[in-house]
Amino acid sequence: MAEPAAPPGRVALAVLISGRGSNMAAIARAAAAPDYPARIVLVAADRRHAPGLEIARTLGLPTTVVPHRDFATRQAFEEALDGVLRAARAELVALAGFLRVLTPWFVGRWRGRILNIHPSLLPRHPGLNPHARAIDAGDSESGCTVHEVTEGVDAGPILAQARVPVLPDDTPERLAARVLAEEHRLYPLAIADFVRHRLQRAGPREEPPRGALAL
Ligand code: GRF
Repeated sequence: MAEPAAPPGRVALAVLISGRGSNMAAIARAAAAPDYPARIVLVAADRRHAPGLEIARTLGLPTTVVPHRDFATRQAFEEALDGVLRAARAELVALAGFLRVLTPWFVGRWRGRILNIHPSLLPRHPGLNPHARAIDAGDSESGCTVHEVTEGVDAGPILAQARVPVLPDDTPERLAARVLAEEHRLYPLAIADFVRHRLQRAGPREEPPRGALAL
């Protein structure tokens, strides 16, 4: 039997990115501490030129690319993604600026083991352009939310939130920068909390039968 990728007590975490990768880097910085309860076993991108891949390599993290354009169907792409996650023996998946919406098949296979960060105070402004929408709606505050991934877009159970003010002269870019600083603080904390309170109690992930649609 193959050795587990993470030492006992530290959950094997895969981070999925599509772009810049600043949240991935924040998680990696936190995970460098010896008492952090997770260890990054893989950074996977769905595009070859995601800038975050280079950052991950610089940090000495294992990287891989599963280019979504190479696959004819979403299911084929997700089967490949599932394959690299299983090969890395990932036990928890953190989406960090990952721009694919995952199908019920994938979510079912990783149920209770996929987290996402979204830059709004969910349930307000799920989906695209949350900063512009917060400003247009006249919101006095915005922020970020770490949640479990379920079938609905940005709709899973909320694990943690951080708040920032929306200022009178805000542009979406300025608000995004203020929220992003909070994302970098919140996501590593929320992952650690989730691991300590949920996963370490749940024990190792059991592999769902191949091809089974977990409902
Ligand atoms: C972050 O704002 C995250 O909340 C959203 O996409 C952005 C990704 O930024 N889902 P980065 O790639 O982590 O720098």
